[in-house]
This record gives sequence, structure tokens and C-alpha cells, in this order.
Amino acid sequence: MSSYKFPHNFKWGSATSAHQIEGGNNNDWSEWEVSKLRVESLKLKGLNPNDFTSGKACDSYNKYQEDFDIAKSLNQNIHRFSIEWSRIEPEEGRFNEKEMQHYIDVVKSLRDRGIEPMITLWHFTNPVWFANKGGFLNKKSPEYFTRYVKYVVSNLQDKVGLWITFNEATTVYSSLSYLKGFWPPQHRNILEWRRVNKNIIRSHIQAYKAIKKIYNHSPANLESFEVEPRDRATSHNVVPRSDLFYGSGTGVEVGITENCSFNPSGNNLYERIIGKIYNYYRNLYLLSKAFPYYDFIGLNYYHIDRKSPGSYKAVPKQDWNMEYMNWEIYPKGIWHVLNQLKKFRKPIYITENGTADAKDIVREKYIKEHLRWVWEAIQNGIEVRGYLYWSLLDNFEWAHGFTPRFGLVEVDYKILERHIRPSAFEYGKICLANQLEVD
Ligand code: BGC
Repeated sequence: MSSYKFPHNFKWGSATSAHQIEGGNNNDWSEWEVSKLRVESLKLKGLNPNDFTSGKACDSYNKYQEDFDIAKSLNQNIHRFSIEWSRIEPEEGRFNEKEMQHYIDVVKSLRDRGIEPMITLWHFTNPVWFANKGGFLNKKSPEYFTRYVKYVVSNLQDKVGLWITFNEATTVYSSLSYLKGFWPPQHRNILEWRRVNKNIIRSHIQAYKAIKKIYNHSPANLESFEVEPRDRATSHNVVPRSDLFYGSGTGVEVGITENCSFNPSGNNLYERIIGKIYNYYRNLYLLSKAFPYYDFIGLNYYHIDRKSPGSYKAVPKQDWNMEYMNWEIYPKGIWHVLNQLKKFRKPIYITENGTADAKDIVREKYIKEHLRWVWEAIQNGIEVRGYLYWSLLDNFEWAHGFTPRFGLVEVDYKILERHIRPSAFEYGKICLANQLEVD
């Protein structure tokens, strides 16, 4: 049996996003889900459109306390979730105080359980009014986005120390929505893809500066907020209170999350060039363009990606494919990616890593093998501050609907009941011990 101990203030948790779990959203995605184009195309494939309509999802908008009780019972001390822009600003310039209060309650309820909130401000969905203006194609999009961000952050500044502006905006979102045409608004236009990327980067930088300004004007009094540091006295030191918030003295850190894959390339010149270009756009583009305007990197890592036959010489084909998603799983890839990101000299949170696995056969192994390589990266001097499994709950997996089941917790969508999967308890043991044990 080998033990891998993590740094004493390492954070352990899980992640979700609003549209995937809350239910009852009204945004560009919910409109697309029921659009004629979408429904007809699902029917043509013999699929039931109801399985691809977010609807009530997990009803976490109402059941969040129950969800956080589970996270706490599993020894998690950080939780990443997203705020749904379309709830906060359902019409242009009209902010909904009731919905803002809802998210204040959500944050409070995490804090009451000793779980630190990490908030994503944008996770793939847009208010309908914003989408009708062209979304991030609109040159004023950075202004619209920053106005929303300012409203949210001013309302939560004394309660939240970790913000993420965008989730996977220039890899997954812009390419699926503007290049490949799979996601709303289903465009296929390389010039639009470039424009969206540029506007998202401008939006991030403006929002980053705006958030910093809010906290600089009135530094957050986070100390006054009741946070119970996790008592891990049995296995290592208790987290000192001051370690719960990092950096700047203003009590805030603002990051950006990107989906990176491990992209081994072949060795002939052509394959190396293709590999380099792909790897740049996949892993480095956003972080290079947004640099230095982020305090941490949120890394979402799921799989190895192959763009050339020669890659199989570098890394043999793995005999491990993710259920339904068909992604080739290669845990050491997370170590390669972490090493690639080292050059940005920013702390890193693993903001997503997980597998669809309805029967919970390989989830424990998936988590442990990835953690083993995260640990290795930490030994190489890379500052990884936390690991957040995707996802706390089974949820609405975008264009794939409800079939893929990523949750530590199984959701029975008919009666909205939660059942903790066995792997979640195994992950809970690691969280509590701050240490991975492997036979
Ligand atoms: C996204 C999540 C998604 C997960 C699994 C990530 O790309 O941020 O929203 O559910 O991958 O596909």
C-alpha cells in the first residue's frame, strides 16, 4: 500500500453548473432545446426529445441544501457552481433582486456547512436578450458581461473569495457553437469563431479588472464570515483560517477555467506542425491571450486527444474509453497538461475531472489514477491547490441530454431523489485524510 499525501491546505470538492442542475431555466439553451430544428433532428435519429430537454434537471434550484448536505457528508470543503446570468438579468439592464438573493442564500448555505464557494460567472448559457443581440459576436458583449459581473460581485463580495469568469469559453463553447455547429446558435464560420474568442477574452479582462476594483475599493471582510475549517486533526494539521483565502490582501482571487487535453503528436514534420497548432488552440491560446489577468488557472481535464496517427507511437492506444462520451482516458495526461501550464506561473485548481459511469464501475479508479498524477505534478513543483470532481450530481449533459452520468451522486430524475454512489464514499475518504492510498 502506498500513500500520497497532499499539501496541508489542499482543497477537496466537486463542481456543477446552473443549467445542468437547477431546472426551470429560460436562456438560449432552453430555447434551443425545444426549437423545431433541434426537436426534428433528434426525432430523425430516433431519439426522444424529452431526454434532451433540461426541464427540471435535478431541481437543485430548490434542493441545493440537500445537495450541500451530501457534499459535506462526503468531507468536501470547496464547491464550484455557476450563477445563471439569465436569472440575474432576464431583460437587458433589469436585475432581479430575488434571484440575486437566491444565490446569496446558496453561498450562505455552503458557508454554513464549512464549504468554500468557488463561483463561475458564465458556464455556456446566455440570457435570451443577449443571444438575440448576437451574444459574444456583438462588439459590446464585454460591456454587457461586465455589467452583469459587477452586479453579482458587489452583492457577494463579502462572502466569496474565489471567482471564475468563464468556463471553457474558447475551446468547448466557441468551437461547438461557432465552428462545428453542434451547439446553439449552430453556426459554422471561422471568422465568427475568431470574433467570439476575441470578445470573450476582452470580456474576461474587463470583468477581471472590474472585480479587482470592487474588492480594492472595499476589501472583503471575509474573516468575519463564519467558516469552519475542516478538522483533519487525525491525519494532518487543521487548515489555518488565514489559509482559506489566498493572495492579494483584498480577499479575492479571480481565475479562468479552460478545458485542456493531452495532445501527443507524431514525429514527422507535418504531424508535429498540426500537433503544435492544435495544442496551442486547445491548451494555451486563452491563457496566453488573457495573461496576466488571472490569479489562478482552472483546469478541466478529461482525456487524451489525438490529431495524428503518429501519436499512437508516442502513447499507445489506451484500453479505456469513457462510457457514452467515447473519450480515451489517459490519467497521466493530467500530469502532462499540468507541466505545460507551469510556464504561466499561476496556481492551478483542477476545476473539473470526472467520468460518466452509470453503474459506478470505474469511477473510483478514474479518480484515484488522476489524483496519483496530480500528486506527482505537485512533487514537480507545480502549485495545484485543489481538486474538484465533475460532478457532484448526475446532470444535464448538454447536447447529450440526461444519459451520461457523471455524478458522485445518482439522481433519479423521475422523483428527483439522490443516492450516493459507492465511489463517492471512497473519494470522501481521500478528502478527509487529505491523502490517497493505493494498493
Ligand atoms: C463542461 C461540463 C460538462 C463536462 C462533461 C465540461 O466540458 O464544463 O459542463 O458537463 O465537461 O462533458
